[in-house]
Amino acid sequence: MGLPYGVSVSPRPRRLDHLLSACGYCSRSDARLWLHGGRVTVDGKPTTDPDQRVDPNRVRIDGEPVESPDGIVALFNKPPGRVCTHEEGTTPNIYQLLPERWTARNPAIASVGRLDKDATGLLVMTDQGDLIHKWTSPRHHVPRVYEVTVDKPLDPALVPQFASGELPLPGDPDPCRPAKLEITGDCTARVELTEGRYHQVKRMFAGQGWQVLSLHRVRFGEFEIGDLAPGAWRIVPLPPE
Ligand code: URA
Repeated sequence: MGLPYGVSVSPRPRRLDHLLSACGYCSRSDARLWLHGGRVTVDGKPTTDPDQRVDPNRVRIDGEPVESPDGIVALFNKPPGRVCTHEEGTTPNIYQLLPERWTARNPAIASVGRLDKDATGLLVMTDQGDLIHKWTSPRHHVPRVYEVTVDKPLDPALVPQFASGELPLPGDPDPCRPAKLEITGDCTARVELTEGRYHQVKRMFAGQGWQVLSLHRVRFGEFEIGDLAPGAWRIVPLPPE
């Protein structure tokens, strides 16, 4: 049987205090307290030595496997009215809906790109800086799919305009890369982009005279939102290197 999501084969031995702090359980200085409190076992036996190097798969914390010791990737369905920021004082934000331990990880978890406060849907969350860079880099053309509702009936002439690679983005000298627009109802559509510029979908429609009333992301790269409920998250396996 395979390992549960987020638990990967990690033969690389790690210092216990480092493992606990990297995975967001406690600071390195508090690791001693956790160990002396009997909360940490290696091969089922309590241990008190923070310097001990162990295979994370042999460790249990409060009886549970260490969460995603090699790094974490999670899918999150952002509800409306939440800001994608770690900035203190900017609330309500998405991190208040995620396990506190994820923000305490070192490096901390962050969203891969952002969704506007009123937008909803799929955010990929990770503590892997190289993945954030790869998935947000304009060179990689990662596909993102949005479902939108607009303020008035859509014109089929928008489809070739979106696909042309020449659609202007108000306030931006560069036109949009070719985008797929599928009109799914009078005032609803699916849009697939391979870039993620500031307020891009809203600006693409605004430039043509439509106002986006709702925006919901259903896909980012290889990840689909599926049946994830608003506010819910799911850890997925780290992609192969
Ligand atoms: N385009 C937008 O206009 N807003 C988002 O949040 C994402 C894409």
